[in-house]
Amino acid sequence: ALERTLSIIKPDAVAKNAIGEIYARFEKAGLRIVAAKMKHLSRREAEGFYAVHRERPFFKPLVEFMISGPVMIQVLEGEGAIMKNRDLMGATDPKKAAPGTIRADFAQSIDANAVHGSDGADTAKAEIAYFFAETELCPRG
Ligand code: CMP
Repeated sequence: ALERTLSIIKPDAVAKNAIGEIYARFEKAGLRIVAAKMKHLSRREAEGFYAVHRERPFFKPLVEFMISGPVMIQVLEGEGAIMKNRDLMGATDPKKAAPGTIRADFAQSIDANAVHGSDGADTAKAEIAYFFAETELCPRG
């Protein structure tokens, strides 16, 4: 099915000047960027985005990391976009990420892991709405 998913290029990968290389991977895999914005997240925005992890031990360092520099936020659209993006990203822990995946190639650690991607249809909808108004999306079917 034609899907949309939320992708974030995290502060580590933005600082490495890797936005273009990561965008090329999305586009070569047939995903279309239908909305994008660069943003330096406030603490409140980062805490709200990761609210499901609030009780996890990594919540505080995760928020600190996500506000440590600007991020690039985009909506990706395409056939099976949610799984396709997860396949491109590789495992959350870059030490476990398959060779050739974004995290294997750009990430340092499970905390600084280069990218975020929605993990399912419901989270994709909620995460897209968290950062983008419907009128900011440019569907290209
Ligand atoms: P992300 O997909 O952005 O969602 C939550 C983030 O928490 C995750 O990527 C990791 O960067 C970070 N994190 C740190 N420790 C863990 C952990 N043990 N399990 C899952 N995520 C973790």
